[in-house]
Amino acid sequence: MDDGMLPCRVQCINCGAAYPPSEIRYTCECGGLLEVEHDLGKLRSQVSRELFDSRNSSFAIRHSQIANCSGVWRYRELVLPVPEESIISRPEGNTALYHNPHLAQWVGVEEFYLKHEGENPTGSFKDRGMTVGVTYAKLLGMKAVACASTGNTSASMAAYAALAGLKAVVFIPEGMIAFGKLAQALAYGAITLQVKGNFDTAMALVREASPALGMYLLNSLNPFRLEGQKTIVFELIHQLGWEPPDWIALPAGNLGNTAAFGKALREMKEVGLIEKVPRLLAVQAEGAAPFYRGFVNGFRKREQATPNTVATAIKIGNPVSYERAIRAIRYTDGVVFAVSDQEIMDAKAQIDRAGIGCEPASAASVAGVRKAVREGIIRPGERVVAVLTGHLLKDPGATVDYHLGRLNGIKPTYANRPVTIEAGLREVERVINSA
Ligand code: F0G
Repeated sequence: MDDGMLPCRVQCINCGAAYPPSEIRYTCECGGLLEVEHDLGKLRSQVSRELFDSRNSSFAIRHSQIANCSGVWRYRELVLPVPEESIISRPEGNTALYHNPHLAQWVGVEEFYLKHEGENPTGSFKDRGMTVGVTYAKLLGMKAVACASTGNTSASMAAYAALAGLKAVVFIPEGMIAFGKLAQALAYGAITLQVKGNFDTAMALVREASPALGMYLLNSLNPFRLEGQKTIVFELIHQLGWEPPDWIALPAGNLGNTAAFGKALREMKEVGLIEKVPRLLAVQAEGAAPFYRGFVNGFRKREQATPNTVATAIKIGNPVSYERAIRAIRYTDGVVFAVSDQEIMDAKAQIDRAGIGCEPASAASVAGVRKAVREGIIRPGERVVAVLTGHLLKDPGATVDYHLGRLNGIKPTYANRPVTIEAGLREVERVINSA
C-alpha cells in the first residue's frame, strides 16, 4: 500500500511520535498506545451535517452503494478514507435508538434512549470496528488476522475474515465465553484456540504470536478498529437530529469503546458537527473493575484485577486501552462506575422484558444509569443514551439460569419461570388464570 493513499497518520498518545499508516505496528517505540490522527483542520471544510444526511440510504445491492448504506462508512472521511471498492462490509451499523417509557421510568430519567448495537450483523458493536480492521488488513496485503476475545470480537472477526477470504485465528479463554459466541467462531470457520487461562492470558499470547507468525492483530489495541467504533457515537447523535444528549452510558471492559467514544466526540466538536460534548458514563462490573478503581484514585496509578463476573464479555482484569480511556473520561468530564452482578442481571431482565433484550454485559450501562440517578450524578431532567453492546441470544445460558434461579449468588428478582403441564385444556386454563 502506498502511504500517500491515506490522508491520516498514526501517532503515539504519550510521546507524539508519528508513523506512516502502512507500517504494521500496534504500539509506539516508547511502549505507548497509538491513535489515528486525521487532518481535522482540513476536514472542517469537507464534512457537514448535510453531507452525512444526504448519505442516509439504507438499501444496498450493488457494492458501489455499500459505503453510503453502512452506518460506519457513511462517515468515511472521519473513519478511514480508503477507496470505496476496497471496503469489506455487511453492511453494519444503522442500529435502532429506542425510547421505552417503562425503562425510562425504571432508571428514573424521562428522556432515556437505548442504542442497540446488538442489531449489527454478528450481534455486537464489534462489527463497526471489524469492517475497518479487515478492510485495512486486506489493503496491507495480510493473509491472516488474529485476536484474543471474550467472544464477540472473535465472532465478528471470523465473519469479516470469511467475507474477505482471510485466515482467522481466534484466542479465547477456555470455558469462559458464552455459547452463542463460540458457535459463531466455529461456524464462520476461524481456527479457534481455547487458551488455558483468562482473557488477559489470551491477550498476552496473541500479542506475542501475531508479529511472530505474520498475523494482523485485530484487537482494539489496533488503532484502526477504534476508528470504526467511533461511529456508534456519530450515528446516535445523527439520529437525535445532531442534538447531543447530556450523557452517553456504556459498558467498559477492555476500554476500546470508552476510548473510541471520547475520540469521536473530540473530533465531532473540532470539525463543527456538535457544539456541546456529552459526558461519558463508563460502567464496569464490580468483579472486574480496575478502571473504576483507577478513576476513584484520580488515575494516579494503573490498576489491575483478577476478574470475576457473570458478564463474561467484560470479564477483563488488565484492559488494553486503559490510557486512551483516561483521556476520554477527562475530555468529556466523564464518570466511571461499577455495578454488581445482581444489578446487571436485574437491569438485563428489565431490558429483556421491555421486548428489546441484550446480553449481560450490555445491561451494565442501564444499571449504571439507574445507579447514577439514585446517587444524584445524573439528574432526571437530563437526556441520556445508554448503549447496548450485544444481542440477547449471544448468551442464552445466563438468561435461562437467571430465570430458573440457578445463577450463583444472584436473586432472580424478575424471574419468569417456565411451567410444566400435563397436555390438557384445563391445565392450560389453570396456569393462564393464575398468572
Ligand atoms: N459489551 C460487550 C457485549 C462486549 O463484547 C465487550 C467487549 C464490551 C461490552 C466491552 O467493550 O472492551 O471496548 O470496553 N468485548 C471484547 C471481546 C473484549 O473480546 O469481544 P470494551
